[in-house]
Amino acid sequence: MPQNGNLPFTYEILQGENIALSAYDNHIIRRLSSMKNQFLDLAAYDTILSKQDSLLYEVYEIRLPEEAGVLLQGISFIHPGKVGDEYFMTKGHFHAVIETAEVYYCLRGTGYMVMETPEGEWAVKALSPHKVLYVPPRWAHRSVNTGAQEDLVIFFAYPGNAGHDYGSIEKQGFRKLIVERAGVPAIIDNPRWLPPDRRNNEAA
Ligand code: 6PG
Ligand code: NI
Repeated sequence: MPQNGNLPFTYEILQGENIALSAYDNHIIRRLSSMKNQFLDLAAYDTILSKQDSLLYEVYEIRLPEEAGVLLQGISFIHPGKVGDEYFMTKGHFHAVIETAEVYYCLRGTGYMVMETPEGEWAVKALSPHKVLYVPPRWAHRSVNTGAQEDLVIFFAYPGNAGHDYGSIEKQGFRKLIVERAGVPAIIDNPRWLPPDRRNNEAA
């Protein structure tokens, strides 16, 4: 249902066994192979990838003009699974226009949103059905599914001009990682993460 963003429209989030948008324009699929160096356990990553390029998450989007004032929206499905002890997750990103926020509404499943600012401030918020999460401007965000069997399903809306900056996160990952410890999710430090003032020095 391509829209120009200038006229009101409605659609439904169908709530059957499989949650779905009643209409969408774009379906993005992300597999393990697109997440090189993002999971902490590189050996576990290579082992899984040598057997199969697992489906990590899918996004269904409603296409609208990528302009300030417009709100882009859709739903993400993060599938259950782990690489080593680390749960399946999205790549995560800052918005390219960093002063843009995002709203999430959790429809199904359990997990976390892992967030951080360019200065290294961090936050991790639990997601469960009916929870709304506000990601403020300047906060990078990554969703993590800690459910054993169920998808984590989240609705999102963010400004049309936001864009995505994946590069900063790809270099060293988020400051905090979500891993399984004694059968339950735990928040741990990412040993590869460096504070902002040490990043350029180490790279040089
Ligand atoms: C966005 C949203 C969200 C996100 C997906 C996939 O700004 O587009 O945060 O829709 O794109 O959950 O996550 P990645 O874009 O990090 O792969
Ligand atoms: Ni975003």
